[in-house]
Amino acid sequence: MGEPVNVGVVGCGAISAQYFRTIERLPQVRLVAVADLDPDRAGEAVRPYPGTDVLGVAELMADPRIDVVLNLTVPAAHAEIALQAIAAGKDVYCEKPLAANVADAARVLRAAGEAGVRVGCAPDTVLGTGTQTARMAIDHGLIGRPVAATATMLTPGHERWHPNPDFYYAPGGGPLLDMGPYYVTCLVTLLGPVTRVVGASGRTRAKRTIGSGPRQGEEVPVKVDTHVTGVLVHESGALSTLVMSFDGVATRSPNIEVHGEKGSLVVPDPNHFDGAVLASVLGEEGWRELPVSAGYVEAGRGVGLADLASAGSGAEPRAGGSLAFHVLDVMESLLDAARSGTAVTLASTCERPLPVPLRPLAGELDR
Ligand SMILES: NC(=O)c1ccc[n+]([C@@H]2O[C@H](COP(=O)([O-])OP(=O)(O)OC[C@H]3O[C@@H](n4cnc5c(N)ncnc54)[C@H](O)[C@@H]3O)[C@@H](O)[C@H]2O)c1
Repeated sequence: MGEPVNVGVVGCGAISAQYFRTIERLPQVRLVAVADLDPDRAGEAVRPYPGTDVLGVAELMADPRIDVVLNLTVPAAHAEIALQAIAAGKDVYCEKPLAANVADAARVLRAAGEAGVRVGCAPDTVLGTGTQTARMAIDHGLIGRPVAATATMLTPGHERWHPNPDFYYAPGGGPLLDMGPYYVTCLVTLLGPVTRVVGASGRTRAKRTIGSGPRQGEEVPVKVDTHVTGVLVHESGALSTLVMSFDGVATRSPNIEVHGEKGSLVVPDPNHFDGAVLASVLGEEGWRELPVSAGYVEAGRGVGLADLASAGSGAEPRAGGSLAFHVLDVMESLLDAARSGTAVTLASTCERPLPVPLRPLAGELDR
């Protein structure tokens, strides 16, 4: 393994601590500097990591030590920060979604292509043992030809716990763009790209009330649909049925089930790296838990950044820009289909990312 890649982080909010903890465990990457619109927040976030510089955003972009910018800003700022990093000749790894809309995401990928830098994007949870074990079972034919999947995410909304939940209810937010990246990325990882979508969506309330932090009790306007349903037609012919909602209370539906001609799989929460994969196969009684057979063991948010760091030049990272672009296109097309009441044929496609062999988080990657 060569020298670690130097990382500069832009955006030091709620999710940043998870990345800092993972980066500390990853030999491929080294945290060098952070920046945030609020410098005090950035300073506070890296207090446990002495030696990390707190810079202005422009200063961080211009810092010649930094090889890759980790973009942990809110979705509305993803494209702007990514474009700044690309213009500075740096690779960029972005929290999901890649951008607030497909047009902005296309600008990011075009600029990266022209500059010869790489783009990676969350979610990297699908590189963990949960999704990867399910993928290996499917690829090895355990359930026969996959014909269908269901994906269900239903919560009363993040404003109960997030102190600044505004972006969840603004364009670029909503249950599909917020949580859909996990589910759609997992479905594309398991079943391949999507060619067509149909959908329907609604919203129950015009305002949400913040449930914690200094703004507790403050109301946030709802500008997006908060219950989104749809069907994804995969290129393989498999059909995935999706329910993504901030309008319900609880569900006992599995996060994801995949049905094949010879069996069915329960796939664990794609917002987590691990979890039990259950299989029920024709001719066998009931469900059995599959042994963990693929993926990063005990992974954390940021493993996709290490994957990008260890991808050779020209190689697409597993949590890569073209996958994230396709996932965003699927979601935006689904929202368009819901609005218009017609099926939408997708303009984009992608390769299924390379599978991840079973390995410890800090292990070197086969490509
Ligand atoms: N909170 C979670 O549990 C969670 C989980 C997974 C992914 N994410 C994703 O991570 C991203 C960040 O979420 P969060 O919850 O940490 O949000 P947050 O609002 O807590 O933090 C975002 C930070 O980015 C900073 N920022 C915004 N625009 C900026 C700009 N132009 N330049 C510099 N800094 C800027 C803000 O000041 C803030 O500190 C989002 O894309 C979200 O979808 C969040």
